[in-house]
Amino acid sequence: MTIRSRLVVSTFLLQVVSMALLGWGVLAVRNQYQQRDMRALAATIAVSVERAASDSLIQRDDVALLSNLKFLKAQYPAIASAQIRWKAKGRERVATVGTETFGARTRASRFVVADPADAGRSVEVDLQLDESVLWAPFLEANQRLAKIILLVWAVASLLGLAVSFLIARSLTRPIVELSRLAGEIGAGKLGGKLEWDSDDELGGLVRVFNAMSGRLEEFDSIKRNFVSSVTHELRSPLGAIESFLQLIREKTSGGTPEGLAQSREFLERIQVNVHRLSGFINDLLDVAKIEKGKMECVLRPMELPQVANEVCQFFEAKALQQGVTISNRLTALPSVIGDADRVRQVLVNLIANGLKFTSAGGQVWVSGEQFRDGGARWIEVTVGDTGRGMDAADRDRLFQPFTQGRNISEGVTGHKGTGLGLYIVKSIVDQHGGKIEVKSTPGQGTRISFSLKVAA
Ligand SMILES: Nc1ncnc2c1ncn2[C@@H]1O[C@H](COP(=O)(O)OP(=O)(O)OP(=O)(O)O)[C@@H](O)[C@H]1O
Ligand SMILES: [Mg+2]
Repeated sequence: MTIRSRLVVSTFLLQVVSMALLGWGVLAVRNQYQQRDMRALAATIAVSVERAASDSLIQRDDVALLSNLKFLKAQYPAIASAQIRWKAKGRERVATVGTETFGARTRASRFVVADPADAGRSVEVDLQLDESVLWAPFLEANQRLAKIILLVWAVASLLGLAVSFLIARSLTRPIVELSRLAGEIGAGKLGGKLEWDSDDELGGLVRVFNAMSGRLEEFDSIKRNFVSSVTHELRSPLGAIESFLQLIREKTSGGTPEGLAQSREFLERIQVNVHRLSGFINDLLDVAKIEKGKMECVLRPMELPQVANEVCQFFEAKALQQGVTISNRLTALPSVIGDADRVRQVLVNLIANGLKFTSAGGQVWVSGEQFRDGGARWIEVTVGDTGRGMDAADRDRLFQPFTQGRNISEGVTGHKGTGLGLYIVKSIVDQHGGKIEVKSTPGQGTRISFSLKVAA
């Protein structure tokens, strides 16, 4: 039995039973009141009969008692019979109003009234009330009420069935959809999301599921990027090294001075490829450390301008070759708390990105300024460029490992890279307790800023 059917059946049954109990309760209470009213009516009849007997005795008018009782019988049809027994001076006369019945539903009572002026005179009345007649008006009202209750019960049950079906459907629909999507994800079709907007627990479940589905898709794309990056980044420098080694072997076999000179040039190219290979392997090792939470930074006071200077000098030749101006605008800043090697790595990554996306005539610079946050002093270091920038979609994903922006497809100066740089940069900045921020406008340039705490 599905959850939906179980919900419908149980809420419907619950409603039917509670409505039935309510109806039964109403009838039971009403019955109690009616019993009381019936007893009160019987008492009223009895009092009237007794009073009629007493009046006739006082007025010494036996006929009046007879006619009064007839009148009362006409007024109260529940009076089945009344037998009157006059007693005076040892004599007894009997008269009966109505006909005596001996059925089970009769209520008999006897009244004896003595003449206060003459102890020998008295009148006895045996009154028989027919309970079925006494109860008849109440019974009729009860039947009418029962019919109304039954009708209300039937309509409410039908409505309840419809409402419980709608509620069950609204509760189970996202569950059914989620299980369909989970099946698709299980079958390898990642990234499916469910359109469901509600503020309740189901809405929360759908949001968590959608986030999970998105993350799985991201992980899958990271995995695919990882495989293609690793393959590409290992194969292309290794292939180049192999070809250069082959060339060197050919050129040196003759032992000619030109051959030796060319071989030296090939060795330099081999060195560039080995450098690229070791850079990639170092990045991979860093990523592994970050994933294991083992990327540790040794924080001690360090001079930012000095490190920035070294990095700018390192890139100067490349910038010159590209026709890009590189400048260090970090001067006279207080010492910061940081791991100098890791901060250098951050600057290398950011400046390399700047150069990668800036064409001839552009600029790449490092600048910094102090700011206060709470009681602490910080320095915000910015690496800016006047390159091609990136759009919002690229900006949202650029800190994910093995993820590159779409702007990479426009072609870059030097090798494309693997999309690890900013992931590592962010982890290093996080280790320093700082924040990283990107401002970029397509076609105008990019500024990536990170903060470091000023040393006490
Ligand atoms: N200065 C920049 N200008 C324009 N786009 C940038 C800049 N810096 C980063 N990006 C975008 O962010 C992406 C991620 O940068 P990241 O440094 O992580 O990887 P990468 O430079 O492509 O490769 P790697 O750093 O591993 O060699 C880049 O592919 C690019 O799309
Ligand atoms: Mg990079």
